[in-house]
Parts: sequence; structure tokens; C-alpha cells
Amino acid sequence: MLHHGGNVAEVAKKYSIPVGLWLDLSTGIAPVGYSVPVLPAEVWRKLPLCSASLIEAARAYYQATDVYPVSGSQQGIQALPLYRRNLGKNNGTVWVPFQGYKEHEKAWRSAGFPVRHYTTLPDVEALSHQDVVIVINPNNPSGQVQPFGKLEALHQRLAERDGWLVVDEAFGDAAASFTSAIPLAREGHCFVLRSAGKFFGLAGLRIGFVIAQQRHLQALILAIGPWSVNGPALFIMEEALNDTRWQQTQRRMLEQCSTSLHQVLKTFLGADSTGTYLFRTTYLNNAEAIHRYLCLHGIYTRLTDEKDAIRFGVPGNSDLPRLKAVLEAYSNTDGVS
Ligand SMILES: Cc1ncc(COP(=O)(O)O)c(C=O)c1O
Repeated sequence: MLHHGGNVAEVAKKYSIPVGLWLDLSTGIAPVGYSVPVLPAEVWRKLPLCSASLIEAARAYYQATDVYPVSGSQQGIQALPLYRRNLGKNNGTVWVPFQGYKEHEKAWRSAGFPVRHYTTLPDVEALSHQDVVIVINPNNPSGQVQPFGKLEALHQRLAERDGWLVVDEAFGDAAASFTSAIPLAREGHCFVLRSAGKFFGLAGLRIGFVIAQQRHLQALILAIGPWSVNGPALFIMEEALNDTRWQQTQRRMLEQCSTSLHQVLKTFLGADSTGTYLFRTTYLNNAEAIHRYLCLHGIYTRLTDEKDAIRFGVPGNSDLPRLKAVLEAYSNTDGVS
């Protein structure tokens, strides 16, 4: 099992602090989620089928031609290597970012593909027949955004070599100066994954989208099998995708909360942070010690796997003062308890 944020019960036990007393900033999920409407009884009673109106809503929101819902972008992450293996296109190497959501690497390795890490995007010249490049854009946890031109060049090279470009845009709804790779997905060698968990704050609903050519989507639907996304998720998502007024308010709120968090981190940790409107990551020499200090004060953050940084989920306005007070106390001490 890979280690992810969001497991309050685990840290509560480790630090002997009751679950209810923790401030959980260990994920990049919006502090306020889409307000779930009361659902018609039929939504619970009927088997879930993806409606044309949901596809229309998703097409409009993502500016995509072909799009299909999955049970969280995680399901797409797991389905793609199996689909590619079934196509018999497994002669290449899968390039994954050294730092980033580790489920990609795990899924490709489990499907039997050789994996290679990159720290900066691989040079197009380095790509061989049937290679696959995974890009997390913006990256989690570094927040680094890859310019569209670079992805376009990679995609062109991969297309010429029967490869794929897979772009995980789980945090794409809430990043400054971000251009989606979705236009590339029309061409047959690119897959884009989107999540409803982060920006919409609906991680528990388990819904996300795969954007790719229709022939790929049809094959993925067949491979995943029927009813993989539950009816309430389909219903709620359609409302959320159509609710442009809520989206604008949410974006403004997240931008403001992210800016406030950035200032608090800079003031009390003395370091700049990178990230998106959903999380800020601070690279620190003593990241492990500060992470522990925060835990001792009931604040749960995500220490990166490399233990060189702490990722702070953006707190809502009412939670920021608590983080600020603990970091201020930390900055007034010489060390960590
Ligand atoms: C970069 C990235 N991609 C995808 C996911 C999966 O999210 P979900 O399945 O909720 O859409 C996560 C979850 O944390 C993530 O960090």
C-alpha cells in the first residue's frame, strides 16, 4: 500500500490525540466542497447509467470532445496500463515523474511495464518506440506546471512512435497560468485525467473523467465494466459541472485562501511555497521535524515521500488562525519538541 494523506485515524493513534481534535491539511481537497443537493429517490433506486446530459455538461466544462466518467481519476490511472497491455503495446518504457503521485508508477509496474523516473520532462530525442510519458500537471506536490508547448512536442514525438502521453490534471481546475492538454486528447495518443475530488471538494463521491478519443473511451468502458460510477455521483456531478456561478466563487475563495497560506508559511517558516490554489508545498531542511511538531499540535500535513518538504492543504479561513498560531509558536522556539 502506498502512503497517502487523509488518514487521520492513523496519526490520531500515533500521537494519542482524539480524531475530532485534528486539523487535517494532509490532502489537496478544497476545504469547502460543492453543496450536495437533495437527491430524487429514483437516483438511489435505479441502476446508474451515464446520461447524455452529464456528457454534455462535462464536454462544456472541460472543453473536450470526448469524455467519460470513471470512479475517481484513480480508476483511470489503474485502467490505462491494463488497456495498453491488452493492446499488446508493451515494448516501450513508461516515464514517470520522480516526485509526484506514486499511484501511476505502481499501476504501470503492476501491469508489467518497465518504469523510468524523470526530474525534468524527458527530451523528445530520448523517447523510443511505444514509450509512455506520464505528466502530472500541475505536479502534486511540487505544483510545477508544464507549458502546453512542451507537452505538444512530447505528444507529437510519442504519436510518431506509437506511444502515449498521459496527463494527470487532477489539480488542473485550481492552478494559475495552467493550460490543459485536453486539445491533444483529440488525436489518439493522449489521455487526460480529471478529478472531481479536489476543486469540487467531492473526493468521497468517487468521480473523475477520462478525456481521450472515443475509440479509447469505448474500450476503457468495456474493460472497466458496467455501473462503476454510482448514481448519486453522476447526478451531483452534472449539477456541479453546470454550476458556473459556484465554480467562480470557489475559484476566488481558493485563490484567496492559498495566498493567505503562502504568506503565513513565508512569515513563520521563512521559506517560499510552491503549489496550486488547493495546496502549498514548502521545501525545508528540517521538514521532518516541523511535520512532527505540527502533529504534536494536532495539525496533520503531508510530509513528502522524499522527506524534503511539507505539503499543506489550503485551510479554510476559519482554520488558518490555528495553523498560524502553531507556526508562530514554532518560529519563537529554537528547536522542535
Ligand atoms: C495527482 C493526483 N492524481 C489523481 C489522484 C486521484 O484522485 P481521485 O481518484 O480522487 O480523482 C490524486 C489523489 O490524491 C492525485 O493527487
